[in-house]
Order: sequence, then structure tokens, then C-alpha cells
Amino acid sequence: MSAFVVLGAQWGDEGKGKMTDYLAEEADVVVRFQGGNNAGHTVVVGDKEYKLHLIPSGILYDDKLNVIANGVVVDPVALFEEIDYLEGLGVKVTPEKLAISDRAHLIMPYHKVLDKLKEKARGKNDIGTTGKGIGPCYTDKYERSGIRICDLLHEDVFKEKLAENLNLKNPYITKVLGGEELSFDEIYNLYSKLAERLRPFVQDTSVRVYDEIKKDKNVLFEGAQGMLLDIDHGTYPYVTSSNTTSCGVASGVGIGPNMIQNALGIAKAYTTRVGKGPFPTELENETGEWIRQKGHEYGVTTGRSRRCGWLDLVILKTTVRVCGLTSLVVTKIDTLAGLDKIKMCVGYKFEDKVIDYFPASLEDLAKCEPVYEEFDGWDESIEEARSYDELPENAKVYLRRIEEITGVKIDIVSVGPKRDQTIRVK
Ligand code: GDP
Ligand code: IMO
Ligand code: MG
Repeated sequence: MSAFVVLGAQWGDEGKGKMTDYLAEEADVVVRFQGGNNAGHTVVVGDKEYKLHLIPSGILYDDKLNVIANGVVVDPVALFEEIDYLEGLGVKVTPEKLAISDRAHLIMPYHKVLDKLKEKARGKNDIGTTGKGIGPCYTDKYERSGIRICDLLHEDVFKEKLAENLNLKNPYITKVLGGEELSFDEIYNLYSKLAERLRPFVQDTSVRVYDEIKKDKNVLFEGAQGMLLDIDHGTYPYVTSSNTTSCGVASGVGIGPNMIQNALGIAKAYTTRVGKGPFPTELENETGEWIRQKGHEYGVTTGRSRRCGWLDLVILKTTVRVCGLTSLVVTKIDTLAGLDKIKMCVGYKFEDKVIDYFPASLEDLAKCEPVYEEFDGWDESIEEARSYDELPENAKVYLRRIEEITGVKIDIVSVGPKRDQTIRVK
């Protein structure tokens, strides 16, 4: 039996989709355990590029089971748009290949409306969310007024819960936030239709995943977002509304934490972030723009340009600690080729000492100054490298330093977006 989690070790978009697809070859089951269609995971196979938001990145294989577990928030409209998009590209999405938890919470039209109106109301203090209704849906889950997929499949329960929610939300939307009233009939008719399409996919996925593990199957848990977007350990409030760390797997799937043997942290060879919030190593200069252009750093879900900066090992050390990382995967090292000098942040100068953790208070974080080590760059393009030995010596020095400081071994180096542009480090 092998069950392991693939996690974003920074602020998302590290290449989790690519690595999940790559590693899924050896897995039987791929499971999403948190987040929703705020995620944008890119998988490139041959000449085809697939953009996945809600469906696990194992879906491109015909013989894998993909699971959307209870910790995920599901927008059924977005789900079927994604299924239609995949089917259009020749990827089969059948109930044999995709199981969806009956306990997962539904993103409702009012969650998307609330997400946008609340962001507007926050003014200059907006979070820069994806606008997909994620925060308001998780709010209802924890406030215990959420609607789960099992509720949608019981007509009377759904009717009652929808009415209760609209009774409370419509006055808030119209009177407090200045939005338009939502119609019960429109939502009811749309969701009732979607319920019938959803029904064959729905099951108790905690039982299913547990059974698969007991049958000695290989299970891969695919994280969305990244360590520093975690609701508890990220740069709050500039975070998403779920536990993006390995700790989210047990509750987000319904299995014991002792069933997860390995945690792979996916880290870009530099750092990016979309949306607002602190970013100590951000490069708001020509080098940042150079990295953005060379690395095509534009969001998959919203198209926004990603902020770029040097690699920050304070972030990676935090991920090692909080997620119990057993190994690292470094992606997009090819993007750095052509830089004369490359910097790596190894600590923060905070008041009169150097720290290697993130202060909770954003005011304290704003006072932190990155402490850098500088490395010679390399000019050789490395997209064609298929073994560690083929990497330029300076790239190896850079990678070795990451291992030394984080204390975790790099198992895989990714040198391009395609499945085969991947190096296993022996
Ligand atoms: P995710 O959200 O973590 O799955 O990452 P995204 O798909 O949002 O962003 C990663 C982007 O980098 C995608 O366009 C990938 O195709 C691409 N990518 C992944 N790994 C590599 C790599 O090693 N090199 C390059 N150049 N691109 C990569
Ligand atoms: P993947 O899985 C990068 C960011 C948003 C915003 C914050 C809150 O592709 O790595 P939300 O809509 O979740 O309430 O937005 O989180 N964010 C992401 N940033 N990658 C993602 O997913 C993200 N999902 C959410 O930009 O700053
Ligand atoms: Mg992404």
C-alpha cells in the first residue's frame, strides 16, 4: 500500500497538476481533498494542454479512479462545464472514473454573488479572490447552513435548505451589499436538473478511498493552492478558506492521518503569488517582469498576471514543518536559465535577529527583510535534460543548497511543462 500527498509548497501554481499527472502513472486513485474550482491545474501531454479546476489531474488516464472528496466545495455548473470541456478533448469522464462525495458542500449561485460583492465592499482591503464563491461556501459549511450534495439528491431537503438560505441571504445581498435578489425558482430548477446528472457519480468516498487503500492500491492525494494560502498557517487573511496542508487530507477525505505515508512538496525554483498579500521576496522590477514573461506567469483560473520573486526558503522550511514533507519536487528550473545571478532567501532579518519562520502578524512580516545568498546563473537551456547529470553545474549547486537548508531531499526536478520533461533524482 502507498498513499501519498502532492502539495503546493508556496502560494499555489507550483506545477501540482503536471506532477500529479506524472506521478499518477504509478497510482490507482487520485483524490482532491480541499478547495474547489479556484484551482487551475495545467497538464500537458504531447501537444495537448488540459486546464483542470475541479476534476483531479488523474482523469487523463483511462484506468484511474478520480475522487472529489468531502473537503472539496463543488460548483455543479462548473463541474459539468469541465466535464464537457474534457469530453470535447476526447477525455472520458464516467462514473467509473470519477467518484464525488455525498458530503461535499455545494457552491450555490449566492456564494459566487457574495464572493464578488464582499470583495467590492472591502475596497482597498480586498483579498483578490478568484470570485468562485469559495470563501462564502466554506463560511456556510462552518456556520452549519451549507447544502451538501446528499441534500441536493433529496428533493424536499434541498427545497427547504435553499429557501432557508435565500430568506437570510437575499436581504443581506440587496440591503447591505447593494446586489440583486436571487430567485428561488431559477436556482431550484437549475440545480434540480444538475442533480440528476450528478447522481451516478455520487457515493461515500471515505468508504471508497479506505477500501482502495485496504486493497493495497496506490492512492495520490492532489493538493490545491499552496502552503501559504492555508487558512490556519498561511498569510491570513490573504489566504483561501481551506486547509491546503497535508493535515487537510485526513479530514478532507475521511481517513486516518496514519494512512498517509509520504508528503511531496512541489516548489517552483522561484516564487509566485496571484492576488493580494505579503510577498517578502517579490521583484517589482525588470527581473520580476523577465521571470513573468519567461515563465508565462499568468493565472489559469482568472488570467491575472502572477507576481514573481526569488525563491524563499523560509516558505519551504515552513512547508517542511507544517506538512511533514518527506521530499521536494522543484519545477520550472528551466525558467531561470539566462539569468546572470540568482538569489535565494535563506532567512528574514527581523528586528535584531534572523528568523526562519513566518511571523503571524502581517505588521511584523512587513518589517522582515529577506537575507539572500547569491548564485551564479547558467545560460544552457535545460528543457531537453532527462537526467540529473545533464543539468548545468550551477543549477546543481542551486538545487543542492535548497536540500541543505530545508533538510529535505529533492526527488524530482521538472524542466518543462510536458510529462516527459521530468528528471528523477537518484
Ligand atoms: P498548479 O496550479 O500547481 O497545477 O500549477 P499551474 O498549472 O497553475 O501553473 C504551472 C504552469 O507551469 C503551467 O502552465 C504548467 O504547464 C507549467 N509548468 C509546470 N512545470 C513546469 C516546468 O518545469 N517548466 C516550465 N517551463 N513550465 C512548467
Ligand atoms: P492552484 O491550485 C494560486 C488565491 C487567490 C487569492 C486567494 C483567495 O492552481 O495552485 P479564493 O478564491 O480561494 O478565496 O482566493 O487565494 N488562490 C490561488 N492562487 N493558485 C491557486 O490554486 C489559487 N486558489 C486560490 O488568488 O489570493
Ligand atoms: Mg494553478
